[in-house]
Amino acid sequence: MALILLSPSEMQKKLMDNKYPAQETYHAMYSTWWGGVVTDPALMMVPIDDHMVHRGDGVFEAIKVIEGKVFLMDEHLERLNQSAALISLPLPMSLAEIKKTILETIILSGQKNALLRLYISRGPGGFTTNPYEVVASQMYLVVSAFKTLPEEKYTIGAKIGKSEIPVKDPWFARIKSCNYLQNVLMKKESIDRHLDFTVGFDQNGFVTESSTENLIVLDQNKNLVHPRLHQILKGTTMLRVFELAKALQKEGLIHSLTERDISEVEIKSALELMMIGTTLDVLPVVQYEENKIGTGLPGVVSKRLQELLKADIKGGSRLTPV
Ligand SMILES: Cc1ncc(COP(=O)(O)O)c(C=O)c1O
Repeated sequence: MALILLSPSEMQKKLMDNKYPAQETYHAMYSTWWGGVVTDPALMMVPIDDHMVHRGDGVFEAIKVIEGKVFLMDEHLERLNQSAALISLPLPMSLAEIKKTILETIILSGQKNALLRLYISRGPGGFTTNPYEVVASQMYLVVSAFKTLPEEKYTIGAKIGKSEIPVKDPWFARIKSCNYLQNVLMKKESIDRHLDFTVGFDQNGFVTESSTENLIVLDQNKNLVHPRLHQILKGTTMLRVFELAKALQKEGLIHSLTERDISEVEIKSALELMMIGTTLDVLPVVQYEENKIGTGLPGVVSKRLQELLKADIKGGSRLTPV
């Protein structure tokens, strides 16, 4: 027999030896399962029988920390709470305690800039689909390095295409669940097609969203439009950008701020298109399939919105100091 039984100490050595480059970007992990924080990536583990692992039964958030301040913390926690409520997943602690745990874990990580990966899992206990067989729901939090896009991407702009992956139905689209197979396949298809992103369309031909980003449009009448919050995730960055965009209305750069269905024809003829999300901020789109968007160069509204968001992240009202 070639297989050997590993003792706990042999197992620990294996874990320490099996290092890989991505681990260098994981700075700290908190888990309710151990009730503490570890900083060695080799120890950042979750139980195999946690239903989040084998059934995708959990919800999550990605939150950024810039210069020692958490951006849109309450908005992310509110969405986490909504996602969990929709699948009847009890939070293992109150939102106030989650917030405190996040801040303390960041301090222990020693990082000033980071991307927080926050998971609420159904919990360990058995391998069936039955969510009632678990011990209790758990929280896992990883403080990881925050990698932004290269600056030139914002001056070149992104190329996007139409997704072939079936979109989530409206009920599932509102939940940021750990069952992200559609999103994974959208990312894969964009990479395979040498595109930056692909976007989905619903049964009526209206655009939904990308793998982990929202799409917004400056239409031919200079209305800044986002899709109805019906079959998409309620993007925290998108909604903040729409708040900030009121300044551009006053400047006369945009006519109105609107939420409505957006067809593919409108996407092709838009003055500007932008991808929006936590890791991107506001990224201009210059091409959709074979169609040049606007002049084919990043537009002034995208640029101004990115500037407004950057200023907001640096010194705005939606920051929680660590
Ligand atoms: C499916 C989906 N849409 C949109 C977004 C953008 O949301 P946010 O701006 O909160 O990062 C995300 C990322 O969380 C996502 O996973």
